[in-house]
Amino acid sequence: MYTIVYSEELAPSVKLFHVQAPLIAKKCQPGQFVIVRMDDEGERIPLTIADFDREKGTITLIFQEVGHSTRQMGSLKQGDQFLDVAGPLGKATHIEKFGTVVCIGGGIGVAPVYPIARAYKEAGNKVISIIGARNKDLLILEKEMAAVSDVFHITTDDGSKGRKGLVIDPLKELIEAGEEIAVVMAIGPVVMMRSVAEVTRPYSIHTIVSLNPIMVDGTGMCGGCRVSVANENKFACVDGPEFDAHEVDFAGLMARQRMYHHHEKQERPQGGSCKCHG
Ligand SMILES: Cc1cc2nc3c(=O)[nH]c(=O)nc-3n(C[C@H](O)[C@H](O)[C@H](O)COP(=O)(O)OP(=O)(O)OC[C@H]3O[C@@H](n4cnc5c(N)ncnc54)[C@H](O)[C@@H]3O)c2cc1C
Ligand code: FES
Repeated sequence: MYTIVYSEELAPSVKLFHVQAPLIAKKCQPGQFVIVRMDDEGERIPLTIADFDREKGTITLIFQEVGHSTRQMGSLKQGDQFLDVAGPLGKATHIEKFGTVVCIGGGIGVAPVYPIARAYKEAGNKVISIIGARNKDLLILEKEMAAVSDVFHITTDDGSKGRKGLVIDPLKELIEAGEEIAVVMAIGPVVMMRSVAEVTRPYSIHTIVSLNPIMVDGTGMCGGCRVSVANENKFACVDGPEFDAHEVDFAGLMARQRMYHHHEKQERPQGGSCKCHG
């Protein structure tokens, strides 16, 4: 069993847990994720390792309540336990000193971007971060992101904090101002990651996105998480979740997510929420 040793509400419907998981905390690297299951009847939910404390043996999970399982997870409190936490899963982010790196997080995507931005910074890169949300109440990890960034931008769709607009606006300006960017790392809603890819494509700026297709086992055994990258089928759980943004078939990814949405609606009234049959 994996105990929740700390719990905090970061924003409406966004929760942070520190979970006691010493073996995972010992091994995990930025970019990796875990699959959690709350109890015997629970489904398997992939969540990024947003932070870790190797000494205390804890990992940090930050999640948004979007459906049945994440809402159920949101009702857990400090002292409650997960039945299973499997990980670390997926490939770690490739970190080295590249020069200037732009880290972009949209909405809950700021959670997975944070440990990556910190690792880029520790490797000696100049880190420019851009985080965005629909409004100020939905912004998370502002202080943490600012602390690991040389330059830090906030955007909100409604202008309630930072600059009014989208995360791609400061990115466009940086490029137009001639900033020499070695890598752009973008994590957030698929539409956001696709827009970032379109901004950097004409300039051939190496751009990485972390994909979140629906997963089942998370260990490469089912293909539920397949995505087309450079016209080849890849399994996001073992080949990713990070991929070259300029090679990802975003339209295909969105179509698959919509397809599952339909299944979710149909399956839930019958009492099931299994995602294996997409
Ligand atoms: C590698 C990976 C890392 C992730 N990390 C995080 C994280 O750190 N924090 C976090 O909040 N979420 C993360 N997710 C997404 C999270 O797994 C889903 O939100 C969760 O499985 C939804 O379960 P549910 O039963 O609550 O919602 P469901 O009832 O299954 O779905 C509710 C709605 O959310 C959509 N949805 C479900 N799963 C996903 C998904 N994987 N991506 C996009 N939309 C989805 C459904 O289509 C539906 O519209 C990650 C996903 C992956 C694959
Ligand atoms: S989730 Fe089954 S292969 Fe990736």
